[in-house]
Amino acid sequence: MSDILTHAENGVMTITFNRLERKNSITAAMYGAMADALAQAGSDPAIRVAVLQGHETVFSAGNDIGDFLNQPPAGADSPVFRFLRGIATFPKPLVAAVCGPAVGVGTTMLFHCDLVYAGDNAAFSMPFVNLGLCPEAASSLLVPQMFGYHRAAEALLLGEPFMAEAALEVGLVNRVVPPTEANGVAQAAARKLAAKPLGALVETKRLMKKGQQQLVAQQMADEGQSFSRLLGEPAAREAFGAFMAKRLPDFSKI
Ligand code: COA
Repeated sequence: MSDILTHAENGVMTITFNRLERKNSITAAMYGAMADALAQAGSDPAIRVAVLQGHETVFSAGNDIGDFLNQPPAGADSPVFRFLRGIATFPKPLVAAVCGPAVGVGTTMLFHCDLVYAGDNAAFSMPFVNLGLCPEAASSLLVPQMFGYHRAAEALLLGEPFMAEAALEVGLVNRVVPPTEANGVAQAAARKLAAKPLGALVETKRLMKKGQQQLVAQQMADEGQSFSRLLGEPAAREAFGAFMAKRLPDFSKI
């Protein structure tokens, strides 16, 4: 079965991570499939809302590290950047259900969702620095805006995980529910949205976002350049090598 499942019903397109054995880590092929699904959902008049969901035990472990090493993103048209642009500019409502670990892009993609429901087991983390990298998905702009600078520094410089209740407190999630209910709660919200007039939804989202649409695009492009450069540097090589060898990284000589 495919690592990304898409299902359209009653105006709702649901995109599901389906790679549980690898903790829903995301390969280039999966980014490509999600970018295509978002593009289709955005332009198909029969789709009014999109939902992103994982499993009740894990949302996503972020980039598949092996795949990332084998085929690092090359240029703005690479699947990961296509996906990030797609999610940042998706014109219709986007709802997410998050349970268990949401690592790296598993967390940063949520800043582009309109409604986020979390299982009480959700554990968010953005450990880019720990991997010798920098933030992506405009999170270096959006996290300080939402969290305030000092809490953003804790999340992005220390890279420490934070749980569902903390995410609720800073406004990253709308509601915390039992993990078995998260996908259902997200679907119920999506059905409610799908019953509303699409033109009014799209216009309202556009108006809420327009003030910083360009800033987000610029930040993403800036981050993308730094991320690609850092990916080739010794710290990232050490961090990724350590992950593959199941040991702790040693940055003492870098
Ligand atoms: N890329 C590639 N493989 C990954 C992965 C990733 N991002 N995350 C998990 N996996 C693999 C593990 O290597 C393991 O493989 P194995 O069965 O061959 O040993 C398998 O998925 C299960 O993961 P495991 O770590 O045993 O599960 P866990 O429940 O103990 O922990 C996480 C789950 C998500 C907390 C942990 O896997 C993790 O921290 N992953 C790395 C996250 C990361 O750094 N992402 C990159 C962000 S840019």
